[in-house]
Amino acid sequence: MQDSDEQSRGLLQSQAHIWSHIFSFINSMTLKCAIELQIPDIINRHGTPMLLSELVEALSISKEKSNFLYRLMRMLVHSGFFVKQSVSITRGSDEEEEGYLLAPASKLFLKEDPLCMRPFVLAMLDPILMDPWQHMSKWFQNDDINSFQTTHGKMVWDFTFQEPVLNKLFNEAMATDARLVSQVLLKHYGGVFEGIDSIVDVGGGTGNLAKSIAEAFPNISCISFDLPHVVKGLDGSKNLTYVGGDMFEAIPKANAVMMKWILHDWNDEECIKILVRCKEAILSKDNGGKLIIMDMVVINDEPDNKTLETQLQYDMLMMTTVAGKERTEKEWAKLFSDAGFSNYKITPVLGLRSIIEVYP
Ligand SMILES: C[S@@+](CC[C@H](N)C(=O)[O-])C[C@H]1O[C@@H](n2cnc3c(N)ncnc32)[C@H](O)[C@@H]1O
Repeated sequence: MQDSDEQSRGLLQSQAHIWSHIFSFINSMTLKCAIELQIPDIINRHGTPMLLSELVEALSISKEKSNFLYRLMRMLVHSGFFVKQSVSITRGSDEEEEGYLLAPASKLFLKEDPLCMRPFVLAMLDPILMDPWQHMSKWFQNDDINSFQTTHGKMVWDFTFQEPVLNKLFNEAMATDARLVSQVLLKHYGGVFEGIDSIVDVGGGTGNLAKSIAEAFPNISCISFDLPHVVKGLDGSKNLTYVGGDMFEAIPKANAVMMKWILHDWNDEECIKILVRCKEAILSKDNGGKLIIMDMVVINDEPDNKTLETQLQYDMLMMTTVAGKERTEKEWAKLFSDAGFSNYKITPVLGLRSIIEVYP
């Protein structure tokens, strides 16, 4: 009897585990819907806990959708993007209703916030980047480089080159992250740039990281280096220059080379080629000559399950969209040594990512 109880409990637990996995995409899609409807901005503008009826009115949607909106908000409260607070609705009575406020994570979706992650959500959940997940098993059985290629017939960087809308969305998404990382980096870890008088940010996108360094350190001359179509038409400043080119061919020379979110896009052979180009670009071993990488270091026995899960999700994203991966320290160390670097130092201070200083 006890055996069969346990068996049934086990069966039902397995079913619940499977359901939770099947429907994980609903977390992403409800968030995307809220961002498209600009719900965080609307609630923020309201200033006090916003009643459902007020939200319906502000969204200019049919009152008949109230109950559906309530259910969307219930999901997003559960996911930690909004919080509820009781509001008394008639003066002098005990009647109360619940109003919505922003939870801390939703503050990162406010349009006027320079760190706004809205473009990142919209780019990552765009059908162009979502469709390849439908073709993953097909890709395992063919010879394509990744399922992005299986789906779209070309690699992502060729795709962004030909699709200005995706190119803009993708670059904006990267820029929001660069702004957030720059803020933390310069506030707390500016020492990384000590002794450097020139730096090149390889794959710098639209140059937000280099721009922040150039402003914080007027004596450092900065280059933001990326593919020609990415830097086309961008204006530099007194100590910031944009250079277009291919990092597999040559990287402009500087005291230090920086790469944020670059190497995880590429496989080991490609990374070694890029790293060799970086080493050639570093003017000298002295005067702070080094490579500064900002990327993940995966710790397989990471005690925080959520951290490891997100790192593994990123690893899968790299596998599906580009041809790269998220690496463990051992894998990083091998790349550095294969490319001829002598030493490295990992400082895990950028949330799920680390600053990795690599010495020629
Ligand atoms: C994931 S994004 C990172 C952008 C930026 N470093 C950041 O973190 O916000 C990768 C960047 O590498 C650039 N890239 C791809 N192939 C390149 C190449 N062959 N040479 C130079 N840049 C390249 C892309 O255009 C893109 O801006």
